[in-house]
Amino acid sequence: MKGIILAGGAGSRLYPLTLVASKQLQPVYDKPMVYYPLTTLIEGGIREFCLISTPHDLPRFQQLLGDGSAWGLSIEYREQAKPAGIAQAFLIAESFIGKDSVTLILGDNIFYGGDSFQRAFADFKTGATVFGYHVHDPERYGVVEFDANGKAVSIEEKPKAPKSNYAVPGLYIYDNEVVDIAKNLKPSARGELEITAVNVEYLRRGTLRVQRLPRGFAWLDAGTSSSLHEASAYVQTIEKRGGIKIGCPEEAAFRQGFVSRTQMDELMIKIPNCEYRDYIAEVVAEAKRLNQL
Ligand code: TTP
Repeated sequence: MKGIILAGGAGSRLYPLTLVASKQLQPVYDKPMVYYPLTTLIEGGIREFCLISTPHDLPRFQQLLGDGSAWGLSIEYREQAKPAGIAQAFLIAESFIGKDSVTLILGDNIFYGGDSFQRAFADFKTGATVFGYHVHDPERYGVVEFDANGKAVSIEEKPKAPKSNYAVPGLYIYDNEVVDIAKNLKPSARGELEITAVNVEYLRRGTLRVQRLPRGFAWLDAGTSSSLHEASAYVQTIEKRGGIKIGCPEEAAFRQGFVSRTQMDELMIKIPNCEYRDYIAEVVAEAKRLNQL
């Protein structure tokens, strides 16, 4: 399974913050936003990534994440010249995807709690798996309608009259058919290659699974000033209470066995003395104590 992180877009709702740094580089409490979706995919066992952003912002992401090798990953970079739709990612990353299946995650989506994604990755074979999350404002998203047996029967993009409160969050798992499906899409009325159109095509073929995320699960989207602030407050609350970090790629890569204890020690030499470093040191020390990893 390969992973695409889509981190382009205009970020106009975060103006003037986005004049100098793209949305996905803004801080969410104690880390850049893109760390959160990256960590979500690492926790799902993904090691090969392609990050897509604007020609203007891409160098900043390269500066931040490098080629991924320090964390036992490989990260390639591709430009999206214009924000012509989420599904365009599969055309831009076609050579990266090759013959594999692929997960696309939006660079401004933050997930926390449970193991729904890990199980979905482990169970995935063919077709598509997307998720349904109960929200109070479904009209802002792709909305999925379920029948009495819990089977998805329709998905509509930003409907005026939503048929349910279940929105589709920005993490989508597809088999290799997605590349051909994306190639055959026509731009929507707003001129975008819509991810909802991809999901509708899988639904038409009878190969779309929509899994409802449980109540205890958090999905935050940090696209506006207030949702960005709320996301920071949420992360701070969880981290302070539990003494753990959300969205720490070093920790996730270590727990996945992508980096060894020795490599973690080397990695820490490059991190300045700060709370983030103390946390990673504690994770490694605990693993040593428990003789794990
Ligand atoms: P949006 O939040 O819909 O758009 P945006 O980021 O451009 O923000 P705004 O509406 O404030 O101008 O996009 C969702 C995510 O998908 C976000 O992380 C940006 C990304 N995206 C792309 O990278 N390319 C695209 O063509 C589109 C449509 C979105």
